[in-house]
Amino acid sequence: MPIVTSKEMFEKAYAGGYAIGAFNVNNMEIIQGISEAAKEVDSPLILQVSAGARKYANHTYLMKLIEAAEIETGLPICVHLDHGDSFELCKSCIDGGFTSVMIDGSHLSLEENIALTKKVVDYAHERGVVVEGELGRLSGIEDAINVSEEDAAFTKPAEVEEFVTKTGVDSLAIAIGTSHGAYKFKDQPRLRFDILEDVQQRLPQFPIVLHGASSVLTEYVEMINRYGGSMPGAKGVPEEMLRKAAEMAVCKVNIDSDLRLAMTATIRKHHAENPGEFDPRKYLGPARAAIKEVVKHKIVNVLGCDGKI
Ligand code: G3H
Ligand code: 13P
Ligand code: ZN
Repeated sequence: MPIVTSKEMFEKAYAGGYAIGAFNVNNMEIIQGISEAAKEVDSPLILQVSAGARKYANHTYLMKLIEAAEIETGLPICVHLDHGDSFELCKSCIDGGFTSVMIDGSHLSLEENIALTKKVVDYAHERGVVVEGELGRLSGIEDAINVSEEDAAFTKPAEVEEFVTKTGVDSLAIAIGTSHGAYKFKDQPRLRFDILEDVQQRLPQFPIVLHGASSVLTEYVEMINRYGGSMPGAKGVPEEMLRKAAEMAVCKVNIDSDLRLAMTATIRKHHAENPGEFDPRKYLGPARAAIKEVVKHKIVNVLGCDGKI
């Protein structure tokens, strides 16, 4: 099975009422944990690389590790650039073998976002690569002081048809109340499903992407707190909300923080219980196993993409 785009994955996910997990990768153990989980439950997979991950681990190392995962598992794997912030970065990833890129022009005006996104789409499509665009801003939504500021950050459904038609993007990330990291909601978690529904009606059969979709699993937050960390008020997206989104037009669900938490909690526990231990394999091994468990749980119990190869 070669490294693939997400085109066929999304078509099947849309029709089947499930979503594909897009997991962020930064090193070998993370790639192994995710891909072994997907293999065990026969799930298609998107492995995504941020600019920060690329800077940390190096493009070639990550690409070769992902190729190794593809060889070892035989799974269809899409290699995706997460939050590309410039044409040059997208071009470099496309030229370097990625099959999908995100150009995140969500901070720009609609016109500027369209122009930048279209430039990336034109370059990508000529080379068989797919593109994710974004409308609406995620970060800081939970910090909005008043409703009008809050509304300004959500995706405006009235803009989506123009954006998709003029840019030619293959999928669209929208802001409906999720945010990145482990502190997503101050009060009760609330997502604007009315916006998702409106977008879905305006863009029939079009794949929607949900960023900031970690649930901030209590088990790992508690483990971090128990073993010397401190994460008061950490809160994520309830899993039933993600299931509901996956049954709607959301075909790609981005998860990074839940993997970071599982990894960090497991390593903290190991060091607390084995203070004299200094062989990295002794703590990175259990961290990799924890990532595998989290990913399996997401695929089977939340996203529903198990058995969908
Ligand atoms: O959306 C952001 C992802 O969690 C990647 O984070 O830029 O720290 O690698 P990063
Ligand atoms: P989380 O921080 O909720 O895991 O979101 C990850 C993400 O959106 C990557 O693009
Ligand atoms: Zn994101």
